[in-house]
Amino acid sequence: MRKEFKNMIFTPLPVLMIGTYDEHNVPNVMNAAWGGQIDANQFVISLSKHKTTDNLLLKKEFTLSFATAKTVNEADYFGIRSGKKIDKVAFAGFHHEKAPDVDAPVFEEFPLCLECRVLEMKPDGDGYLLYGEAIKTLADESILTDGKADLGKLGLIMFDSAMNVYRVIGEPCGKAFRIGLDWEKSRG
Ligand SMILES: Cc1cc2nc3c(=O)[nH]c(=O)nc-3n(C[C@H](O)[C@H](O)[C@H](O)COP(=O)(O)O)c2cc1C
Repeated sequence: MRKEFKNMIFTPLPVLMIGTYDEHNVPNVMNAAWGGQIDANQFVISLSKHKTTDNLLLKKEFTLSFATAKTVNEADYFGIRSGKKIDKVAFAGFHHEKAPDVDAPVFEEFPLCLECRVLEMKPDGDGYLLYGEAIKTLADESILTDGKADLGKLGLIMFDSAMNVYRVIGEPCGKAFRIGLDWEKSRG
């Protein structure tokens, strides 16, 4: 027996942190779960109208960071309050500096960050589909292993829309493009 649900349960949803500057170069950050990679360096995020979308239309550049278990309270806060009403970054006490290659903030508290450009803000209903391109990935040395970005050190979280909770993404369980081959061989 399977229970039917009318709403789509698509998983895992990311907990993306979109970092932007406004016209006064005040940093802002918002939480977005409805996004995913569509090409080697490209992704799409479904956005309603926010302070963030005003900033994206203005600057055409942004950062995309990945929330962690350590920053889960702030990440949720960044999704329930608007930069139109409060300086969320200052309230959270987050540390930031301008990204090396784009006009957008990098937050010290988020160890993995993409420097991004807006490819298109495609009108979609009352909001936009943001097509973005990552021009560089910045990984803090705290999450490196042998010079590689080690997501196991990140404490990465996902958004579980079925239970409305955040979950920590867990341990590796197999080498991709490899264990399937080993398993195939073992079947004879
Ligand atoms: C878990 C979670 C996921 C969210 N995902 C999205 C999303 O994918 N798209 C969107 O437009 N808003 C999303 N939001 C809502 C925005 O983050 C929220 O409206 C925020 O206040 C916008 O901030 P800003 O006005 O400072 O840009 C999400 C909020 C939460 C808590």
